[in-house]
Amino acid sequence: MRSKEQRLEWFRDARFGMFMHWGLYSLLGRGEWVLNREKIPAAEYEALADQWKPKRGWARECARLAKRAGMKYMVLTAKHAEGFLLWDSKMSPYNAAQRGPGRDLVAEYVDACRAEGLRIGFYYCFMDWHHPDGEICEHDEAARKRFLDYSRGCVRELMTNYGKIDIMWYDCPWPLMSPERIEADSFNRMVRRLQPHILINDRSLVPQDFATTEMNMDPKDGQAWEACMKTNAEWGYVDYGQPEDWLTSRKVLDMIRHATLHGGNLLLNIGPTPEGSMPEGAYKMLLPIGKWLAKNGEAVYGRRVRDQKRYLDWTMIGHWTRQGNTAYYWIDRWIGSETVIAGFLAKVKRASILASGKPVKFKQVGDRVTLYGMPAANPDKNVHITVIKLECATYPHQELGMGRA
Ligand code: GLC
Repeated sequence: MRSKEQRLEWFRDARFGMFMHWGLYSLLGRGEWVLNREKIPAAEYEALADQWKPKRGWARECARLAKRAGMKYMVLTAKHAEGFLLWDSKMSPYNAAQRGPGRDLVAEYVDACRAEGLRIGFYYCFMDWHHPDGEICEHDEAARKRFLDYSRGCVRELMTNYGKIDIMWYDCPWPLMSPERIEADSFNRMVRRLQPHILINDRSLVPQDFATTEMNMDPKDGQAWEACMKTNAEWGYVDYGQPEDWLTSRKVLDMIRHATLHGGNLLLNIGPTPEGSMPEGAYKMLLPIGKWLAKNGEAVYGRRVRDQKRYLDWTMIGHWTRQGNTAYYWIDRWIGSETVIAGFLAKVKRASILASGKPVKFKQVGDRVTLYGMPAANPDKNVHITVIKLECATYPHQELGMGRA
């Protein structure tokens, strides 16, 4: 088995991935918790399994959009809490191959990721509203054993039947809310035995390869870190949402910037439609991001070291990322041909517009750097974020403090 750092290499470079919440709940269009929130009778909910007829080519469409958006990996909900298995499973007949879809959706997803050159992650939710032991396992030891056998069997299939898998993304082990009760160690040993290169998240309640935060982007110290974020009302597809619910491309780029500065990744969620199309809002949000990253990727991709002591501060018009001795100044409020960067503690050797490579004139007096002779209007007509690349003689950081001088 390669060392943890070696296994994490691609992940630390990748920065940006797509989370996909897709299952029977997508048919109802009210998010992945609808079964629980509306206490839908089992028979009524299970009938969805026969109604579900995703279109052929869905996976390729989703993967292609992820690729065009500049994403490097995907994580699909192979099983969410509803308990429906998206793959051809021997563990339960409540699965995509034997019910409505009539196909192994996980296999289609894996093929699509490979075709687009994306790394492959499986999301697996321990919590299960379908399995007869899914809730009673809390206080019935025989049920707990059966439930874990089932869960292990499911994950074993995922780790065995689809070739090399890059990420095991567990979720919520409720009601077995301790590593002992979910038998996290033996679970993870099995996963690593079957997939020696895999990265495992922290949701089997023990730290593994990377930490996750959900709907918050506070970096985790001392560990590889990934933030997962919704992009509209729910994780699963919603058809009642307002178009305004979608994050803007600019907002997502700011999240990417923040993740970059702190050495983490952004796993951005999309809930495909029941047919497996990417919603229109996803295209609107993601295509400008991909276009922008194609020109400005240098400010984003590649391993970054989190440096809490020597930080780059906020200014009135933008924020930063950094790589070695180069600082990338993301101006998202363009104020014209001239602007000042204060408290800048490195000698600037060269300034340029990252997207075009055009040099930018500058003068530096002490820790004040004036950029001048730039275009009057923001050169980035796409999302109006222009990155100024500042190549410095030493490691760039800033000190502005709270006072006047
Ligand atoms: C929340 C939601 C769950 C979703 C997860 C993703 O926990 O409840 O449905 O899958 O976030 O991290």
